[in-house]
Amino acid sequence: MGRQMTCTAPVNIAVIKYWGKRDPTLILPTNSSLSVTLSQDDLHSRTTVSIAPEYDQDRMWLNGIECPVSSNIRLVNCLQAAREQRKAMEAADSSLPSWSTWGIRIASVNNFPTAAGLASSASGYACLVYTLAQVLELPLTPSQLSRYARLGSGSACRSILGGFVGWEMGKLANGEDSLAYQVAPETHWSELEALILVVNDAKKDTSSTVGMQTTVKTSTLAQHRFASVVAERMQQMEQAIQDRNFEQFAKITMQDSNQFHAICLDTYPPIFYLNDTSRTIIRIVTTINELCPEIQAAYTFDAGPNAVIYAPKQHMPRLIQLFTYFFPAAHPLPSEEFFNDPYHCVPT
Ligand code: PMV
Repeated sequence: MGRQMTCTAPVNIAVIKYWGKRDPTLILPTNSSLSVTLSQDDLHSRTTVSIAPEYDQDRMWLNGIECPVSSNIRLVNCLQAAREQRKAMEAADSSLPSWSTWGIRIASVNNFPTAAGLASSASGYACLVYTLAQVLELPLTPSQLSRYARLGSGSACRSILGGFVGWEMGKLANGEDSLAYQVAPETHWSELEALILVVNDAKKDTSSTVGMQTTVKTSTLAQHRFASVVAERMQQMEQAIQDRNFEQFAKITMQDSNQFHAICLDTYPPIFYLNDTSRTIIRIVTTINELCPEIQAAYTFDAGPNAVIYAPKQHMPRLIQLFTYFFPAAHPLPSEEFFNDPYHCVPT
């Protein structure tokens, strides 16, 4: 008899961006970063992990399509890390069942476009390692578990925790101290909301792995960012969150998004994630912020043209009105049926 468990994990959207690896295998970053984990009700991955003695090999399905496991080094590293821990537990206590020798099957679905700069790898790997840790009964704190998620995708380590989450870059070569930690729970600042503007849901053309590698090799601006910008911004951002100071939060968020995309442009060959629509969104947000007596909203963009707008709850209805005025729906909205069954591609 096997064991099976299903969990969901939300995406997180960074306000201090991670971009650059000092160790590409262990996924150790060149700078610390900080993000907001969105609610489970919004963009999320849902993953079922089952283990059984009769599974002769590990297999995985993403959005209903089988993907090879053995050639996916990061996935293999996540599975191996969890299995090794389980193996050590079994070696220390012979009464434990030998789940570490069983095959693993994974079925994961995202309720939003995959690999389109909407943090699908973050929720995906966080969900995978969390579910796997449940199935294998690994006694890990969320911070310890974040190390396993990091082996899959750097930003995934932050989706293990809710609310406002930091990822300390760490100093050790083995990555033991490169962990996520909670800056504040979601309830600390529940008036803060996120609005996602999907500009284009196609797969991005420069993956974050390739992009980061080229940036670290070629961008002098990135070296300046790692050495002299991020540490101070992390402190200022943590303070802004503790004080629920939206003005400070918004300013740092927008500046950090701008610097990340400036670094992409400073990379050779240059990487363009923003498009004309993204730049129009930046102009709309900066214009209303200048016209109003207090700052209304902050934009941030990851490795794609889609915007995430952070704003206090009271400003959201007006912001939505504004964006729908400038960008009226080009396609008919999805039917109620779609929203009732966003997992229409679950494997059978
Ligand atoms: O974890 P990755 O390899 O998908 O990299 C994510 C990088 C950004 O989303 C652009 C920034 C971040 O900190 O999430």
